Amino acid sequence: MIVEYNRNATVAALELDQNELLASLHAAWRREFSGEPEVFFAPGRVNLLGAHLDYNEGFVLPAAVDRGTFVLARPREDRRVRLHSLDREPSLELDLDSLLYTQAHGWANYVKGVLAAAAAESPGVDLLFGGNLPIGAGLSSSASILVATAAAVNHYIHKKRSTAELVHWCHGAEVHFVGVRCGIMDHYASAFGRSDHLIYLDCRSQTHREVPFRSDAAAIVVCDTTKRRELSDGKFNDRVRECGEAVAAFNREGVRATALRDLSRADLEANITKIDPLLYRRALHVVTEIERTRAGVDALRRGDFIQFGENLRQSHRSCRDYYEVSSPELDALADAANATKGTFGARLTGAGFGGCCVAVVDRAELDRFCSEVPALYKKKTGLSPRLHIFKPSFGARRVAGDL
Ligand code: GLA
Repeated sequence: MIVEYNRNATVAALELDQNELLASLHAAWRREFSGEPEVFFAPGRVNLLGAHLDYNEGFVLPAAVDRGTFVLARPREDRRVRLHSLDREPSLELDLDSLLYTQAHGWANYVKGVLAAAAAESPGVDLLFGGNLPIGAGLSSSASILVATAAAVNHYIHKKRSTAELVHWCHGAEVHFVGVRCGIMDHYASAFGRSDHLIYLDCRSQTHREVPFRSDAAAIVVCDTTKRRELSDGKFNDRVRECGEAVAAFNREGVRATALRDLSRADLEANITKIDPLLYRRALHVVTEIERTRAGVDALRRGDFIQFGENLRQSHRSCRDYYEVSSPELDALADAANATKGTFGARLTGAGFGGCCVAVVDRAELDRFCSEVPALYKKKTGLSPRLHIFKPSFGARRVAGDL
């Protein structure tokens, strides 16, 4: 199935989509709550280069996408919190001062994590959520829930927090409250995204530069395998642990490194026989992926989409062979995209183990891509992919107002 395929209709369709979503949210608000809410939005993200580099203190290159999570919010005076979602269970009523992680609460744990971190200064609040991102597809619907919640709460504490502080708030909630040892990229891109730009983020200094992306020349197509990740958080946390073990192993050989980012090619070459092969493969991916991300940014700045695409292709191979986060479906979809004329490059994106590939496609060949790639993928796997064409977009904001 192809979603938003008609290029000329894309913008109008999305606007309609958002207006309909907002109308449903306002109707649900009137049923569940009272008074006039304010509306906040935070987008999902897609990462172009820099796979699994954020928690290794490396460099990543995401864009905020033009879909995400809306939250309607209204403060309360009694320190109670009421949470509803248009499309997710459960609805909850809780006390702001005793918010605890509860596995059965699913999505609401993300909201609780942000509220718990701000409880000392925040009022009680009614919150109603609704989104238009595919869930579990690797576009970080969870970060968009976190950042939308943080944007709402920040509004009620008189914007005391900077955007960078909101990012830390959300990251802390995901790591310490929800228990996923993710890096900072998803929250950062959702908060700092900029229209028609990629965010080149140094995850150690936590500063970024904006890299123009010429959407008139190339399209970012997210290709969903429709195969959801299994045990993803467990496997994701395994990779984080392995990287820590790799740093320790290199230190034992006399290399001074606090994160895999600190290793050089020479460190790798000098220690090839001394480091456990699995840990070595993880380190090799990180060192070469940092090089690819830098090279990709340089290529984009020159307007060289061919070289940029080549970096994506190599990134997929490294994710598959060295970091081992691919799956048969991701390989089939990346291969189908990379074999199609007009694809500059494609690779798995997000955590991997299922979910999506991202392809950068020549605008003039988009029609071919949208008909040939699903056919090739279906032939190989029997599955029909979903294609989403995204434009890099603005980060979190109050709707009809600034963040
Ligand atoms: C997940 C995590 C991110 C990042 C990516 C891999 O999406 O949430 O922090 O590590 O995987 O690049």
